[in-house]
Amino acid sequence: MEENNIIVELRDIKKKYFYPQGELEVLKGINLKVQKGDKIAVVGPSGVGKTTLLNIIGTLDYPTSGEIYFFGKKLDYNNEEILLKLRREHIGFIFQLHYLIPEFTVIENIILPGLISQWKKENCLKRAYELLEKLSLSGKENHKPFRLSGGERQKVAIARALFLNPTLLLADEPTGNLDQESAKEVVEIFLKINEEFGVTIIMVTHNWELAKKMDKIFLLKKGFLVKLENT
Ligand SMILES: Nc1ncnc2c1ncn2[C@@H]1O[C@H](COP(=O)(O)OP(=O)(O)OP(=O)(O)O)[C@@H](O)[C@H]1O
Ligand SMILES: [Mg+2]
Repeated sequence: MEENNIIVELRDIKKKYFYPQGELEVLKGINLKVQKGDKIAVVGPSGVGKTTLLNIIGTLDYPTSGEIYFFGKKLDYNNEEILLKLRREHIGFIFQLHYLIPEFTVIENIILPGLISQWKKENCLKRAYELLEKLSLSGKENHKPFRLSGGERQKVAIARALFLNPTLLLADEPTGNLDQESAKEVVEIFLKINEEFGVTIIMVTHNWELAKKMDKIFLLKKGFLVKLENT
């Protein structure tokens, strides 16, 4: 493995949640090296800690112990500026529940990351139309999310996650609520953006068929990641 191609590395990541009645150690020592261009699936039963792990990789949550390195540099959770820059410039997130803003149209949802990054409106729109076309959403730009199918909503969430050209796309169960056909389409889109733009993908899924389309599959089991042979 070429060390300088590593985007993110987790070293002995542990995560405990604390409750009044006790504590739960969800992650017990996760080690993972993610290389540029990797397509990774994380599988495992409900409640095992997949979302927790993805949130930690995406810097939306922090581990109880262990270290994360981005591009070889240890992440400093006290440096809010670096965290923001990292999230903005390198990480795209597709959440388990898609979190589109219901009052916003498709196009308004998609350009949100651009507006937050203070892009000019015309550049935002240019990028949004590119993505609409790539994701076969053309013609839907002025629809509100309630007028879209589940698959289309998921594609809008993908477009939004891709808006700023992330290095790393984190997708939490992106096909969870979709029928087999739409689920396949979403994964085809992932394969395409991986191929075309070299976007590195980590996808959490329950769907074994879809997991097999990634090039590495990890099972999260009893707090540890186990690499499965991709058959
Ligand atoms: N913020 C939190 N505070 C306390 N406990 C939490 C929190 N988030 C998750 N948990 C607990 O940690 C465990 C792992 O949750 P997580 O959401 O990571 O699982 P998951 O593998 O993503 O499950 P699913 O497949 O159902 O989405 C669960 O027992 C959950 O109740
Ligand atoms: Mg989850």
